[in-house]
Amino acid sequence: MAVYLGLETSCDETAAAVVRDGRVVLSSELFSQTRLHAEFGGVVPEVAARKHLETINDVLERALGESGLKPAELDGVACTVGPGLVGTLLVGLSAAKALSWSWDLPLIAVDHLMAHVCANYLNTDLEPPFVALLVSGGHTQIIHFENYTDGKILGQTLDDAAGEAYDKVARLMGLGYPGGPVIDQLAAQGDPRAFDFPEGRVPGYDFSFSGLKTAVLRCVQKLEPPLPVADIAASFQEAVTRVLVRKTLLARKELNVTRIVLAGGVAANRTLRAKFQDQTDARVYYPSHDLCTDNAAMVASAAHFCGRTTSLEASVYSRQL
Ligand code: KG4
Ligand code: ZN
Repeated sequence: MAVYLGLETSCDETAAAVVRDGRVVLSSELFSQTRLHAEFGGVVPEVAARKHLETINDVLERALGESGLKPAELDGVACTVGPGLVGTLLVGLSAAKALSWSWDLPLIAVDHLMAHVCANYLNTDLEPPFVALLVSGGHTQIIHFENYTDGKILGQTLDDAAGEAYDKVARLMGLGYPGGPVIDQLAAQGDPRAFDFPEGRVPGYDFSFSGLKTAVLRCVQKLEPPLPVADIAASFQEAVTRVLVRKTLLARKELNVTRIVLAGGVAANRTLRAKFQDQTDARVYYPSHDLCTDNAAMVASAAHFCGRTTSLEASVYSRQL
């Protein structure tokens, strides 16, 4: 049995959680800065780092208190070391180092993308092998996992990430930040066939979403107000989810795996989930809504399955290595 305290500060959520054996969530606490950044239309790194500093002690105390455990009952302190915003990552890593040193516990470095995948181990019996579709604000990848620790990236976006496309399209329609949830809601009332937006044409398992975003921009510029926002949202979402589902199912078939795993903020999307359910007999896993977007339970899970024990000299990285 192993119990880890996890910290997550890679972007605009300050989160701490305690998880047993990578699967059982004993506590998961979070302070979301979304409202703070909404007025700027996106995350402001300096503002985010400052807010993490203000809130992390409180979030940490709540997570430990809620777990009912004492520091001596933990097996390690884990934190996200990248990819993410350097200034915000440093807040989490500094806190984790201080706790590891004062409680005399191992310090575990966790990769943010692996953590998103590990969110699928929480409250489930999922085991590799599987094909994962990782779709977040910064990344879009199809990854083949034959074990818990190493994923082979089969393809990825050549430009915008899927979540980034949602955010940009929402912004150009004046729908605010973050764009994913609002487009998801609006699309439910629109016609996905109203506009024929192009799918990025790239070979293999790679993706491209910048052309789609430009097509939506041109369409919006040509239309007279009031904009048919629900129809545009539904048509845009149709184009994004169609290509994500098609390429993931192709990978699943080629690799002959029976499990598909959805991870990252865009995995919360209802149309994406429904399309997978409708189009495959593979078992499809996706985390609950709150575990799709950034949280610390996934970090504590990753500490168990694929974390790297590190030293107090550990550093952060902003981009995927
Ligand atoms: O994984 P995440 O919380 O942070 C990153 O690591 O990037 O993902 C955030 C992204 C944002 O782009 C947001 O618009 C998108 O996930 N998102 C969604 C939905 N909920 C969040 N996209 C589509 N549909 C949703 N329901
Ligand atoms: Zn994330």
